[in-house]
Amino acid sequence: MYRVGTLFFKSAIAALVFGLATTACLPDVRTFVPSAAIGLQDGPMVSRVGIGDEGEPLETTLTFELPGLSNDRRPAFARLVVPSRDLRVAEEPLHIVIRSKNRSLDWAIPDSWTIPQKKRPVQVPSGDIRALLADAEELDERLVLTVTLEPSLDTTRPGDYVEILDGGDDPNQRPRLEICENVEDTFVGTELLGRPTKDSVTVNLISLIPLDVYVEYGTRARAYTWAVGKTRTMLPDVDPLLDRTPVEPIELKLAGLAADSEYHYRVRYRDAGGGPYLSGKDRTFRTARKPGARFCFAIVADEHLQNKLLHRHEEGLADYRQTLENVAAAHPDFMISLGDFAHPELYDGRDAVGQFEAHQRYLDQRSYIDRICHSIPFYLVLGNHEGEQGWRLDGTPDNLAIEATLARKKAVPNPSPDGFYSGNEKDDAFCGKRENYYAWTWGDALFVVLDPYWNTIRNPRRSNDRWDWTYGKEQYDWLQKTLHTSDAKWKFVFSHQLTGGTTTYGRGGIECAKHKVKGLPSFEWGGEDATGQYVFPEKRPGWTHGPIHDMFVREGVTALFHGHDHCFVHQELDGVVYQECPMPGDEQYRDRFYERGKYELGHHESSPGFVLVEVDAEAVNVEYVKTNTEGAKAKAVYSYTVTK
Ligand SMILES: [Fe+2]
Repeated sequence: MYRVGTLFFKSAIAALVFGLATTACLPDVRTFVPSAAIGLQDGPMVSRVGIGDEGEPLETTLTFELPGLSNDRRPAFARLVVPSRDLRVAEEPLHIVIRSKNRSLDWAIPDSWTIPQKKRPVQVPSGDIRALLADAEELDERLVLTVTLEPSLDTTRPGDYVEILDGGDDPNQRPRLEICENVEDTFVGTELLGRPTKDSVTVNLISLIPLDVYVEYGTRARAYTWAVGKTRTMLPDVDPLLDRTPVEPIELKLAGLAADSEYHYRVRYRDAGGGPYLSGKDRTFRTARKPGARFCFAIVADEHLQNKLLHRHEEGLADYRQTLENVAAAHPDFMISLGDFAHPELYDGRDAVGQFEAHQRYLDQRSYIDRICHSIPFYLVLGNHEGEQGWRLDGTPDNLAIEATLARKKAVPNPSPDGFYSGNEKDDAFCGKRENYYAWTWGDALFVVLDPYWNTIRNPRRSNDRWDWTYGKEQYDWLQKTLHTSDAKWKFVFSHQLTGGTTTYGRGGIECAKHKVKGLPSFEWGGEDATGQYVFPEKRPGWTHGPIHDMFVREGVTALFHGHDHCFVHQELDGVVYQECPMPGDEQYRDRFYERGKYELGHHESSPGFVLVEVDAEAVNVEYVKTNTEGAKAKAVYSYTVTK
């Protein structure tokens, strides 16, 4: 029996490193690989399940030894996951039958799993197969389950099959049986807070099984005054072609709260089949601060978790976990990630194949941020690697931009326009409200989050034209209106990168914000061409509020917080702070991108760490809290104060 490095195992490692007691809401999945590989042991072998070109059925039998499990107790959840690099199907989905001794279940695999680049197998999960465990037999004091995967002969055509890899030492190249013994083990997303307002907050939870859930909340721990909840049941006939995630997230809005107050809450849950309700831990949050109140918030950027997982960068992962602990220790009102967070787009490896895999990458991140964001509301600013670029759209739902958007919306409760938040009001085809740009007021500060990707419909690296980087006119007009109509003393803007940049990849800070800084073209951001000519009116006809930087100066923006360049750089231009924010975990990059971004000005520090911003009516204090995993207490290595 192996315990392999799946998402769930990573979660368990994260739990250990955080030194937390096992709570009711930590995922703990037991993973078993077949007792005999279906292929050779010295490398992955391929077997196929489906129907061969000559009409012959193709089947595979898998035997799992299950030490430590017994037939007396039915687990809360079980599924098969098979690694595959090839799926051939004339008309999706491919229907497979999973058969045990006396039972069988259907498994529909959509062809969105077909992999364009064969670098890394797709992990194809089945639905819940716990019913088959009743056929496990006791052999030598341990349970043994044998299942056969065979084609559904009614619907499978000759030449349709899914390949299954097996063999070798790489656990990602072996089929496996994943079992959650208890209901609390089924949480792949524990409590995550989002969308805090002056009178509410939203809790997001994701379980692999249908649950009954409610949340108790009030102003004192374990003496809750109110409850909100609803019963969730997974539809057994959910169409795998339309909904490619296993279960919907559970999102509950805790409402009717007073502004500028601390609240406690606790999640209560049980298997939708019944049984007693279990309890999560007591958690806390704050509603929006009133003007004049002192508060702080945290910023992280460019987590690049998928790269660290793919290359097993343990040091980078440890740094990331330590940074999150340091964030929690600072007790911020909320945490903002500047993007390149979940990485459905992956330059190293491959893009996520379909919504399910994009969702898995978000769940990988949930196993990290959930450690602190049960009590620190989270906002996501989209990065390029979130994969939601306009140039990927093709008029269908079958592209990464749409699939990644849908996956993100299930895992991260970003704000939609309501009485507290303004933002993108549009309903986009296939994904509805995009929750990609939004603004809110907290204490004496206005927060504005921007998205430079959805409206960039030509890839500037391909077109070699940095004028292609754009927020789009709708977002631009909303930005101007939002800044102009706010009477907040401090105005903070958040964008993964600038539109333009020192390179076609959109790198850099003030060096490319105006031509006068380094004699560079400034594009949409500064409105100038390579010779310094002001060409904004021709390049952006009808954009009457001028280039972005000029608007920031005119509307009194305090600071732009940007990421993308993986280091800390504090700059200032025309009274506006430009703060490039560091990675929370950094092993592979170090300072490469400081040079790649062609930074020359301002104060520079390397990653990893986070930015802590303290705000009150008199001043804004910005600190770089650098991460040190060698036991030293986290400390601010650099700080500055902005006053008015
Ligand atoms: Fe980036």
